[in-house]
Amino acid sequence: MTIKHESQKIAQNFYTFAVLLFLVQVVVGIIAAVQFIWPGFFILNFNTIRTLHINALVVWLLVGFMGATYYVVSEESETELWSLPLAKFQFWATVVTITAVVLGYIIMGLYPQANILVSGTQLLNEGREYIEAPRWADILIVVSVLLFLLNCSMTVFKTKKWTGIQGVLLGGLVFLALMYLPGMFYTKSMVKDQFWWWWVVHLWVEGAWEIIAGALLAFMLMKLIGAKREVVEKWMYIEVGLVMFTGILGTGHHYYWIGTPSYWLWVGGIFSSLEPLPLLVMVWDAFRTTREHRQVTNKVGLFYAVAHAIFNFVGAGLWGIIHTLPQVNKWTHGTQITTAHGHLAFYGAYVLLVMAMIYVTLPAIRGVKEFNSSRAYQSFWWLTISMVFIVLTITGAGMVQTYMERLMGLDYVAVKANYNLWFWILRAIFGVGFLVGVGIFVVDYFKLGKEPARLKSAA
Ligand code: HEM
Ligand code: HEM
Ligand SMILES: [Fe+2]
Repeated sequence: MTIKHESQKIAQNFYTFAVLLFLVQVVVGIIAAVQFIWPGFFILNFNTIRTLHINALVVWLLVGFMGATYYVVSEESETELWSLPLAKFQFWATVVTITAVVLGYIIMGLYPQANILVSGTQLLNEGREYIEAPRWADILIVVSVLLFLLNCSMTVFKTKKWTGIQGVLLGGLVFLALMYLPGMFYTKSMVKDQFWWWWVVHLWVEGAWEIIAGALLAFMLMKLIGAKREVVEKWMYIEVGLVMFTGILGTGHHYYWIGTPSYWLWVGGIFSSLEPLPLLVMVWDAFRTTREHRQVTNKVGLFYAVAHAIFNFVGAGLWGIIHTLPQVNKWTHGTQITTAHGHLAFYGAYVLLVMAMIYVTLPAIRGVKEFNSSRAYQSFWWLTISMVFIVLTITGAGMVQTYMERLMGLDYVAVKANYNLWFWILRAIFGVGFLVGVGIFVVDYFKLGKEPARLKSAA
């Protein structure tokens, strides 16, 4: 395996930054988990730690998508990127902006008064969960994304090789970029603010990102097992069509209780219940293709790609549908049931997707034919088993919470501090297991293809 075009190597810069942020995200995740047991633990309080945890998650996944996209676009267009210097500039601009934003969150955690108002916007944190970057950073991010899209589109225009995979991938990315804008819309009404904020959060993970996942899955199936392009692309169109049909109006499952008209109860309930369908088609697609072809060189890449499809369905689809009907959601809204779903969905759909793309493309970037894949499997099992147990634990916590708080009317803090305590302890323990998995993955990422041949053949 080697890359066909030198500029595909730029993907590696993005992967490295993503992998390091992944490590940060999980370390602070464990701090957050410990703070559920000892609220005073650590110099930064829970608010700040939680902000770091979920914003780092969103950012490293986006950075991972960018790296993967540069690789795929060059490969599919059969040409070098339009401008490698521009891609490098865009990479460093992203690193500088994100680092500044993270430092800002930390400063604000230490000195909350530092988040002053500058020309009508907050200097360090804008306060919309998951996308808390302040306005100046929003603008830099938009510029960076525009440069990224420009570079990718010009690459395609250069050779005019429009493949379906590339079209869907870039379409998904344009949709992603457009959906960032409603999150910058300022209004004094909390109802309207939440209304627009969900366009970003929901239409990203259940719209644009899922479209990108469909395109990347098609790319991986084709590369890994030589599946026929026409067949893979046909299924990709079906998946993506269904994602849009169910996911766009599925946004309604966030409009039940925020002050929007009551027709959203119907619209959200019906369309979001259909959302698992495309995810199931993806699983079926992955299995069908895999069974038809037996010549696989990069087994671990395929393993991650199929695992991504399965856990996308389980985390987003199954753990989503259990609380998506308004009749259920009226009890579970905003409890640890939501948190359980949030973890498994993000892990299955996007963490495993970026990891799969890394294992599919990195060997070629590093120019190695064979590599020792034992660490990749080890890390998969540490990560996945730990995540499944974290999710089962907090699903249990959420059931207790829903029952005691919403049905028996006990006080929120009483339930959290007393009746849920053992769940928090278990979550922290499984969290450490997850960190072990991330540690193995980080080591593997840096060592892949760089070890002496002797070690490789030992596997
Ligand atoms: C990969 C796709 C998905 C991801 C990454 C994801 C992630 C999340 C996250 C993080 C939240 C919590 C948001 C918050 O309040 O802070 C959430 C909420 C929710 N998700 Fe998903 N989700 C996905 C797909 C789905 C699907 C397919 C369904 C339905 C079948 C669903 C149903 C819900 C519902 C009903 C809520 C609101 C929970 C509440 O009322 O508190 N999600 N999702
Ligand atoms: C790749 C792995 C992980 C992903 C994708 C992830 C994702 C998330 C998301 C989406 C939220 C917001 C959930 C919500 O508002 O409902 C969250 C919160 C949180 N996460 Fe993680 N996380 C990961 C790993 C971890 C680990 C290893 C721990 C440690 C045990 C952890 C502990 C927490 C805690 C304590 C919160 C706050 C929950 C709350 O506010 O109730 N996370 N994480
Ligand atoms: Fe949603």
